[in-house]
Amino acid sequence: MITKYVFLWNEINECLFLSKLNLRMKKLKVFEAFCGYGGAHFGLKKSGVNFEINGYSEVDKFAIELYDLNFPNSKNYGDITKLSVEDIEDFDLFCGGFPCQPFSSAGLGLGELDIRGTLFYDIVRIVEHKKPKYILLENVKGLNTKRHKPTLDKIISELKNIGYKVYYDVLNTKNYGIPQNRERLWIFATFDKNFDENFVLSPNKIELKKRIKDFLDKEIEPSLYLTKKQIDRLIEIHKVDFNVDEPLCFDVYNKKVKKDGVCITITEPHHNSLRIVEPPIKGEYRVRKASVSEQYRLMGFDDNEVDFGSLSYSQLSKRCGNGWDVSLVSLIFRKIFKNSPLSFNALIFLENWSKSNLWTGLGSIIIIEEHLYILNIQT
Ligand SMILES: C[S@@+](CC[C@H](N)C(=O)[O-])C[C@H]1O[C@@H](n2cnc3c(N)ncnc32)[C@H](O)[C@@H]1O
Repeated sequence: MITKYVFLWNEINECLFLSKLNLRMKKLKVFEAFCGYGGAHFGLKKSGVNFEINGYSEVDKFAIELYDLNFPNSKNYGDITKLSVEDIEDFDLFCGGFPCQPFSSAGLGLGELDIRGTLFYDIVRIVEHKKPKYILLENVKGLNTKRHKPTLDKIISELKNIGYKVYYDVLNTKNYGIPQNRERLWIFATFDKNFDENFVLSPNKIELKKRIKDFLDKEIEPSLYLTKKQIDRLIEIHKVDFNVDEPLCFDVYNKKVKKDGVCITITEPHHNSLRIVEPPIKGEYRVRKASVSEQYRLMGFDDNEVDFGSLSYSQLSKRCGNGWDVSLVSLIFRKIFKNSPLSFNALIFLENWSKSNLWTGLGSIIIIEEHLYILNIQT
């Protein structure tokens, strides 16, 4: 017979039920390059992977301020091009959404596809020396188009030359439960023998059930609204119909109200053509910019997950424009570490374990310091 039992904290030590497993949970050591708002850090936290950040590299003073606010005591190694590999502790995972830079080495006569002098060269320089078991990189989807394919091939061959197996895919945020059309190229490289040629990086898709209206604030800061004059001008020039029944995204660049409930890609504020159109009140049209919290929700964050400190609208929006969808990246991490040593992924392991025939009863898990205890109730 299996008895349901709830463990009380003070019972743990004297518990008669044997700890079936006492696993030393090794922490995955991570280096986060080009950290921005810390997409890798937030994504790892969401994924349940047991990790610690060894250090990060960032040059933008506002990104550094935001990162340090959210992850105090993290060490910034600054400009990656000046970073000396000997100065960083070894790590298991290198993450980096590297800025897209043309791969031409103008003036050096090195040819289109020479990586010297690019930030990708610094990635190669670091991973060649440190040989982390895992690498996760991200870039715009354009890198996978015909025009830039030689560059992508070069990136892949550089990683393969070091000995990595490389997997990549273009993933869209809207295919993972969040109504934002955000396509990004993800590149994963590993030495781990648990990955073979059949490994598929893309996590299982999640049906999109939510629309942009589900991600909006209840109370809106009045300064976000366009003036009547600005709205009238948009109508006059672009003949847009702002008579909507539910809040929708207006794409300023393409002059279209998006009826599908999905918003366009969030980009840096000076490029951002995302506006929100709300149903008119007393015949007055309402069009506005997205708030900071709305943009962060559309990047996969929960409310209050990020401490914004006193950073400005424009600085916080810039981070979103360049940032990782932290919900999607958490799914990517779960997919990656599902295959790898159990010690990194207690929660993911437990999901699998509870489905397996090793599970003989109801119980509980306890994580004390770095040890995972599974208390299993027997008859
Ligand atoms: C595309 S964003 C990456 C965003 C990040 N993945 C996130 O989730 O927020 C690229 C970042 O690289 C930083 N960067 C640019 N040049 C750099 C350098 N030489 N060393 C370190 N960071 C750099 C930029 O300031 C920017 O924040």
